[in-house]
Amino acid sequence: MSQNKSPVYRIAPSILSADFARLGEELRSVIEAGADWIHFDVMDNHYVPNLTFGPMICSALKPHAKKADGTAVPIDVHLMVQPVDSLAAAFADAGADLISFHPDASGHVHRSVQAIKSKGCKAGLVFNPAAALDVLDWVIDDIDLILIMSVNPGFGGQSFIDSALRKIEQARKRIDASGKDIRLEVDGGIKLDNIAQVAAAGADTFVAGSAIFGKPDYRAVIAGMRTALAAT
Ligand code: DX5
Ligand code: ZN
Repeated sequence: MSQNKSPVYRIAPSILSADFARLGEELRSVIEAGADWIHFDVMDNHYVPNLTFGPMICSALKPHAKKADGTAVPIDVHLMVQPVDSLAAAFADAGADLISFHPDASGHVHRSVQAIKSKGCKAGLVFNPAAALDVLDWVIDDIDLILIMSVNPGFGGQSFIDSALRKIEQARKRIDASGKDIRLEVDGGIKLDNIAQVAAAGADTFVAGSAIFGKPDYRAVIAGMRTALAAT
């Protein structure tokens, strides 16, 4: 493992693969099953060729994003939209805790990051499979999260693209060199049988949609992922 100290891993189920007719119930079930964050995939049929949900759904779900003891579970909004800023602000108002966007979808990346942070949210940058990490040279000190796409954004249930592992290693080096507390999240094709390898490359936060919501027992999948992570 490339990290010096053992990381606190986070599992972030993507509700993209949940039953949309029962979203509140699905949120409560997956939190009860051990979800650390809720990953919220926002698609606009422009930046990506698919359309999901907007800030109204986020604010409707916000009251359900808590554990049985009342502890809030962070809502991790992944914006696959262009332009970025107005929807980012709307999601901040709708209860998002973290908001990430694709730098190639914003004309002014630094400004978009500051706009998210000025709303009291944590800000993240997302990198598509063929995107370079260079922009981090200029903004790593301003962000709280790096999200590496291990599929092309737009759909759940795709296969993990192996070159993401090299990119995770590179992102981990940049985070360690920055000395900052920045989460390294990976999104796409994460399953029980590859999560340990992704962690070994340096990731500490794992989005999983179909792997969790595609199985009847969410708790068993999340527990299996934690067991796999504990062995890294
Ligand atoms: C893809 C989304 C992912 C997706 C992951 O555009 O960003 O979050 O839901 O789904 P799985 O885990 O099924 O690959
Ligand atoms: Zn996502």
